[in-house]
Amino acid sequence: MTHPLRLGIAGLGTVGMGVVKILHEKQALLEGRTGRSIEITAVTARTKDKDRGISLDAYAWEEDPVKLAQRDDIDIFVELIGGHEGSALEATKAAIASGKDVVTANKAMLAHHGHALALQSEANGSVIRFEAAVAGGIPVMKSLTEGLAGNEITRVMGVMNGTCNYILTQMQATGRGYNALFKECAKLGFLEADPNLDVGGIDAGHKLSLLSSVAFGTQVNFEEMELEGIQCIELEDIEQAADMGFRIKLLGVAQMTERGLEQRMSPCLVPQNSPLGQLEGGTNMVVLEGDEVGQIFLRGAGAGQGPTASAVMSDIIEIARGTRLNTFGQSAHTLRKVNSTSSQTPAPYYIRLSLLDRPGALAKIATVLGQAGVSIDRMRQYGHEDKTAPVLIVTHKTVPQSLDQALHEIPETGVIEGTPVALRIENV
Ligand code: HSE
Repeated sequence: MTHPLRLGIAGLGTVGMGVVKILHEKQALLEGRTGRSIEITAVTARTKDKDRGISLDAYAWEEDPVKLAQRDDIDIFVELIGGHEGSALEATKAAIASGKDVVTANKAMLAHHGHALALQSEANGSVIRFEAAVAGGIPVMKSLTEGLAGNEITRVMGVMNGTCNYILTQMQATGRGYNALFKECAKLGFLEADPNLDVGGIDAGHKLSLLSSVAFGTQVNFEEMELEGIQCIELEDIEQAADMGFRIKLLGVAQMTERGLEQRMSPCLVPQNSPLGQLEGGTNMVVLEGDEVGQIFLRGAGAGQGPTASAVMSDIIEIARGTRLNTFGQSAHTLRKVNSTSSQTPAPYYIRLSLLDRPGALAKIATVLGQAGVSIDRMRQYGHEDKTAPVLIVTHKTVPQSLDQALHEIPETGVIEGTPVALRIENV
């Protein structure tokens, strides 16, 4: 009979307790699926004496996550502490050094240290699995490493921060502004301890960098990603984009080009009737494009106890079954170190500006756009009572450099008030 798989769980918050709950309630199911029992040996968290709703008395308690990681009576160190430095990283390194496998939900740690940890784990014969780090309950890493393993991945895209999607869809649905919805998210407990991780696009950027590495066989490169959050999105943009048939999403896009790896996480317009356009509330969606399979859309809960614990369990089960995959789907020694390049892929753009309502003003804008090589597809000027007219322009596909040139020159025409807003349109 195969010996039980023994877990040490570090972090007993929402996700950690979700994992404990599944292990309490589904022993028979898990044993049936893996052929062995999965047991918790020891646990650690910041506070010991706290009612967590399930008794932890049967497990050894460690004060120090590093000590837990080094125990001889665990096979897998389950890291659910979070944070890209500090005890999560120290304990993960200690676990690998002592030959343990690691299951983690920690996208920040892997986005910053993933390559070094992958090299360390290969040298020590351990595995690191991180399904829960990307898009919560959606099995996106397994889709890439298993289901799509016979494809060359051409592009990965996704809405991977539920908080941002909640704010943007609520702005659209209720006509409330960004600040009011940010406060609501704080009240509802949707925000990370550092809210900038959510609204600044960093959390979603971490996830995209991990997806890119597996999709393109490259070393994780979060540092060079083009990153922009949703803080600058105004209600006007939401409403006027809708008027032109679009929704605004914090969208990640990664693709390999001849110039290098393009990775950007930024607010974009998507057609309102597309699967991404219809994504409501805190839900996530990941789009994977393979040369053989075409486009795959994966949609589901990106956070929360059940969904995230479900993803953690899938990694534990994978190890229990004896599957031992390299961290990023191939040996860390074969992952290419590529430069990230600023995006040069042409796309249509949405431009919003406040135009001084005087003769020839629009002609000046059209001239600047034309001289920069930007062609107008559609345009709308809205009724107004003051001296500026709200104007919306949707361009034909243009390279970002031409758009940047036009955006730089538009204020110099002297016919607009404020700064133009420009958002990329992704027709997916
Ligand atoms: N804060 C994230 C979100 C969940 O709002 O989607 C954890 O990654």
